[in-house]
Amino acid sequence: MAEPFSFFLITDTHIFARALGTQGEAFEKFDKYGSTCHKASGALFDAAAKLMLNDGECNTVLVCGDISDNGQYLSNIEASGRLKALQDGGKRLIAITATHDYTSDGRYPDRVIDSFSFDGGSVVPARGTKRSELDGFYGQFGKDGALSVHADSGSYCVQLQEGYRLLCLNDDGDGVICGYSSSCMDWIHENITEAQAAGDFIFAMTHHPVVPPSPVFPLVSKRDMLKDYEAVADTFAKWGLTLIFTGHTHVQCIRSRKTPCGRTFYDVGTGALVSYPVPVRKVEISQDTVKIKTLFPETFEMDSKIYSVSEYTKKRFDSTVYGAIDGARHDIDRLAAVLNGLSIGRKGIDKHKILVKIAGFTADKITVGAADRILLLHSGVRKIKKVKLKDLLADCFRGFYAGERFVKENSEEHRFLRALTAKGVKIAVKAKLKTSGGNPQETALAILDSIVLPPEINPNNTVIKLDT
Ligand SMILES: [Fe+2]
Ligand SMILES: [Fe+2]
Repeated sequence: MAEPFSFFLITDTHIFARALGTQGEAFEKFDKYGSTCHKASGALFDAAAKLMLNDGECNTVLVCGDISDNGQYLSNIEASGRLKALQDGGKRLIAITATHDYTSDGRYPDRVIDSFSFDGGSVVPARGTKRSELDGFYGQFGKDGALSVHADSGSYCVQLQEGYRLLCLNDDGDGVICGYSSSCMDWIHENITEAQAAGDFIFAMTHHPVVPPSPVFPLVSKRDMLKDYEAVADTFAKWGLTLIFTGHTHVQCIRSRKTPCGRTFYDVGTGALVSYPVPVRKVEISQDTVKIKTLFPETFEMDSKIYSVSEYTKKRFDSTVYGAIDGARHDIDRLAAVLNGLSIGRKGIDKHKILVKIAGFTADKITVGAADRILLLHSGVRKIKKVKLKDLLADCFRGFYAGERFVKENSEEHRFLRALTAKGVKIAVKAKLKTSGGNPQETALAILDSIVLPPEINPNNTVIKLDT
């Protein structure tokens, strides 16, 4: 019987080369809002690397794509150098790349990932990376020693240790819609069959989510899901592959899907290493049991100064919600930029500028108690009535992404948020805003619950028993 296999997994490291400029007005503007810690990206990686190097139990590190910030050539030099340093420190690195690791190269005209640097008050074009150049940077981390490679997609299969194989799936598709071609699916099937014939356990990593972290994902941003995600999960489960590790959403969550063949399919999504709470997965697989823990580096060093990882990245994370609220009040373009970072288009906000302004003013100024009173919510808030509405929203938003859900079912927070959501839907219906079909209130409340309540599976520490 094979020995248990253990590994670390990190994803969405989004390393931004500081040589691209991290000072001056143009960089400050670019970096002001959003959870991504551009300036600290390398230093956060180093802190995670130190944590992994100090842990002698796991010798393998999986990296699940979006390794560089935005495909800048300099960022790829820095990112691959950091992976190499971790490898030289004694870890075996196995990495896949994703859409943020290369720039538009004419392969697909609809794809726009531009590479730029910052010089004082100006944004200046910078050398990007061609997709064909990625193997030069990252081929050494798994692909060069693969058992099998699917040439067109760049997907590959590796032997991890005796009894374990990993499918490293490149799902960058056409660079806009991400998924697998039919030839890639055939190749995946062949590799699963071969692993089974050899008596090996096989699982996979890919960048895009196969099971949505919340029903809101396919509704507002279907292109952030893997193409045909439900069919892919069902097919993989039918073939006997029921465990996949993903990134991209920057959401720390583990979710499952009961598939028609009777097996449950698990998608273990990991939050971005470049954002709060800087998660490092530690996983042990033993036969059909998968133990998942999450570790977090405590401090990092940048410019000879030591920072608390949690304090620094949390402040950055919360700038997303506060920036969106501020933008709704004073600067629609800023709101659009924040929403764009969440893959939400600006059509809706441009159409309803006055409603957006009112919502922004309300969220910025008032307390939960005042909102409850003014909007006639009657949710019965007492303990949280003095809490600022924007602070509650920031906590919920962060809680969703970081896998730190604090709202309990039927608690004051829950009752208030449900009443607020129901009121919001009522106003939207009255204002004849486009809703998602079906019963808009039911849909909105189901989405709210999926975002704020504790999920079925603990996002950080859990034990999964796989169906065989
Ligand atoms: Fe990402
Ligand atoms: Fe991504």
